[in-house]
Amino acid sequence: MDNASLVKRLLAWYDRNHRTLPWRAKPGQLQDPYRVWLSEIMLQQTTVPAVIPYFLKFTQRWPDISALAGASQEEVMSAWAGLGYYSRARNLHACAQVVTREHGGQMPSDEEGLRALPGIGPYTSAAIAAIAFGRKAAPVDGNIERVLTRLRCVRVPLPTSKPILKALAEELAPAKRSGDFAQAMMDLGSGICTPRSPNCEACPWESACEARRLDLAESLPDRVAKRARPKKRAAAFVLFSSKGEVFLRRRPAKGLLASMHETPTSMFGPDFPEDADSVAPVIAGYRKLNEIVRHTFTHFDLELEIYVANVDGAKARSLKGEWAKPAELDDFALPNLFRKVIEAAQEKGPPRKSRRA
Ligand code: ADE
Repeated sequence: MDNASLVKRLLAWYDRNHRTLPWRAKPGQLQDPYRVWLSEIMLQQTTVPAVIPYFLKFTQRWPDISALAGASQEEVMSAWAGLGYYSRARNLHACAQVVTREHGGQMPSDEEGLRALPGIGPYTSAAIAAIAFGRKAAPVDGNIERVLTRLRCVRVPLPTSKPILKALAEELAPAKRSGDFAQAMMDLGSGICTPRSPNCEACPWESACEARRLDLAESLPDRVAKRARPKKRAAAFVLFSSKGEVFLRRRPAKGLLASMHETPTSMFGPDFPEDADSVAPVIAGYRKLNEIVRHTFTHFDLELEIYVANVDGAKARSLKGEWAKPAELDDFALPNLFRKVIEAAQEKGPPRKSRRA
């Protein structure tokens, strides 16, 4: 089947089957670039159901890019807390400021101009150019790579095949309705051409799909074997005041989860600390929970043992940080990892009266 016929079929399918999402225009229409940009940044490494409430919260609070630029970084980080990959939020805020300051509040409309902005790479610039500005552009994410690998039965494994897939996407991308085409590919990848058990019978490209013809759809794409993520371990310390407040402090301005809040932890290392008291933020009668909190970062898996104690009076005042009421935790830029730690500590009930506090 030629490319023009593939495009036609996919767009006809999209007209009937497109997902309705809060950042989407109706088929055939363009969407506000601010909303497209915001959604595409949020959707990097995050699923649609997880993004929707954050997208609604951000657009309600900051209805356009200059409003977002006028927020403090702290406000943006707090509103982002829970969505993960926090450099996205820092770049989002920086990007809003650059667009407001240097582009009169208008996003650039071509891929090159977009790619020059903080946090916008090749995928996101192509997605915005196509969806918000109707430019001929071919965004290729993991879902679209899978669709194209199967359509053309590319036997070269990922990530080696990336340039081949990008070239295939560019050959296919139409000059008209390129935004709908890009979003149709996304919907096809997430709803039909799924990693396991693809629903080939419902696919508008079934009769054109080379992997389907060879009964290989489910086994493609091949991948070069990944190296296992290293494991790091540490202790986390949850300190409660007599009023039930939780002690939080700010992480260093550079590095992992920079400037965000945390419950104190020991250094992340190959093993749990042997003597937790010696790495605790304050001497207290710690109780070790019978539970480990796990979290996956880009470059390593983390396991935290949790120590809980009550601290009050002079000892509490000696700690440098903040005491947060449980109901106010959402006002802090507190990564999910530490929310999980605090929840585990709360679930086990307040600690017994401490021995040494
Ligand atoms: N994933 C990345 N971008 C998307 C979009 N615009 N719609 C749905 N899923 C997406």
